[in-house]
Amino acid sequence: MEVKFVKREELKEKPKGELGFGKYFTDYMFVLDYEEGKGFYDARIVPYGDLVVDPAMMVLHYAQETFEGMKAYRTKDDKILLFRPEMNAKRMQKSNERLCMPEIPVNDFIQAINDLVKVEEDWVPKGEGTSLYIRPFMFATEAGVGVHPSRTYKFIVICCPVGSYYPEGVNPVKIYVEDEFVRATRGGTGFAKCGGNYAGSIAAQEKAAKLGYTQVLWLDGVHRRYVEEVGTMNVMFVIDNEVYTAPIDGTVLPGVTRDSIIHILKDWGIKVNEVALDINDLMQAAREGRLQEGFGTGTAAVISPIGELNYKGEIVTINNFKTGELTKRLYDTLTGIQWGNLEDKYNWTYEVK
Ligand code: COI
Repeated sequence: MEVKFVKREELKEKPKGELGFGKYFTDYMFVLDYEEGKGFYDARIVPYGDLVVDPAMMVLHYAQETFEGMKAYRTKDDKILLFRPEMNAKRMQKSNERLCMPEIPVNDFIQAINDLVKVEEDWVPKGEGTSLYIRPFMFATEAGVGVHPSRTYKFIVICCPVGSYYPEGVNPVKIYVEDEFVRATRGGTGFAKCGGNYAGSIAAQEKAAKLGYTQVLWLDGVHRRYVEEVGTMNVMFVIDNEVYTAPIDGTVLPGVTRDSIIHILKDWGIKVNEVALDINDLMQAAREGRLQEGFGTGTAAVISPIGELNYKGEIVTINNFKTGELTKRLYDTLTGIQWGNLEDKYNWTYEVK
């Protein structure tokens, strides 16, 4: 793919101090257009800036949109690494297929990320636990209010230097088990990374926030019983020295971090059960002192320990609201590989060149 470069006149000032998450955007963005019959065309890296859109643009009405979340990491010797970018490329293809959107070839997706991050190299922060968050997204641009697949799309990649996703940092978060709203059911879009899934989750998140909780834990949409995922991450629990996480069967996001952690755990000889875990069994395990640890996994959230669950008003504390030993070991191993401080024995990192 040939990528045109349009230089901006003045570069932005880089943020100083706490980066937070998703507040500052870099100088450039990658843009690729699509038109039915013509395919993808006009790949370009242009100054980050406003888009001019038609008010009838279909994504604004029917939410035909998908996105990805990735990070670029600066190593001690100033190399820039991506983490398993082909998994994001393939997942976006699956999301696009579900939303009736054209699929970007894996190589073009990776080249778009590589080329943009290369241009924005100076924006990849140096501080401990910081990285450049990369947000590829694609949306329907055709003007029209009839419901049908759009004939035109834009694929854009933007980047922002980030610290931790949660204000708690790598400290335990409090999770509210949602039993009123549902996120996904089989046959829906639960496995796809599309904006609509997140739009539908905000009311529950707001409800939880008002009660003092950082995120919600979603239960399955049919029985409202089986543990699925947390708002911005997959979730794992350690019970009787075995790990439990929801299976990938259509309602849960197939997380890149989730997959990596399962690999590492199996490599360490720890049993991972990808099964539907009943919330009642989870709460019972907590009451009996058998629930040893809980943590979320995600690109933005990394490995985020869970310190408290609230289900129907019953509150249980996990590991005395402290980061568990396994959670910490997983965090150190994963981030060690991502930042190039540990041997990449699984061949997961990709150097930006
Ligand atoms: C990510 O972890 O990259 C995500 O996309 C979650 C996001 C909604 C913050």
